[in-house]
Amino acid sequence: MLISIVYDSGFGHTARVAEAVAAGIGEVEGAEAKLIAVADGPMDWETLERSDAIIFGSPTYNGLISAKLKQFFEDSTKAAWSAQKWRNKIAAGFTNSGAQHGDKLNSLVSMALFAAQHGMIWVGLDMMPGNSSSTGSVDDLNRLGSWLGVMTQSNVDQAPEVALIGSDLKTAQHLGRRVAETTSRFQPA
Ligand SMILES: Cc1cc2nc3c(=O)[nH]c(=O)nc-3n(C[C@H](O)[C@H](O)[C@H](O)COP(=O)(O)O)c2cc1C
Repeated sequence: MLISIVYDSGFGHTARVAEAVAAGIGEVEGAEAKLIAVADGPMDWETLERSDAIIFGSPTYNGLISAKLKQFFEDSTKAAWSAQKWRNKIAAGFTNSGAQHGDKLNSLVSMALFAAQHGMIWVGLDMMPGNSSSTGSVDDLNRLGSWLGVMTQSNVDQAPEVALIGSDLKTAQHLGRRVAETTSRFQPA
């Protein structure tokens, strides 16, 4: 099983989340993660066509996915959408931003809509919301309480090496594992 993670990261924070997603994929036997940064171009469309699942990742900029990921979305129209090359592939998404909320949901909705337009099968986050009771803390998984995909947050004045919170990275790792496990259920016997 090949699972590609197509992501953008202007300053390296979302890249760390992408690596955590890849680590989760690696925990599932027979699953291989391929990290593809859209900024590295040119896009490897052939690898995406071979992939059993594609996970999208973006920083939230201006309450949206980044321009570079959006460009990838547009470019996929000719490369994949017209011939529905990604139909029935598994899809999922994650986004990182500076504010706790930061309008991240809009980024995930954009990814899920995009996946639906490609005929892909969207996998959400199967986790109860963390840090939402008197006994909760920022160490809880899914501390930002998302279901559509993984939301992570990093302080804007800290470098990627220190800014990402352990619980967020573990939540991202969980999504990677979940996507790999789900993808394996769609493999021919
Ligand atoms: C152009 C721009 C727009 C941003 N817009 C938002 C936003 O709408 N919401 C938010 O919470 N943070 C916003 N941020 C902060 C980024 O989401 C945050 O710094 C994030 O960690 C960047 O990820 P990256 O290092 O992967 O690029 C913005 C940052 C930039 C540069």
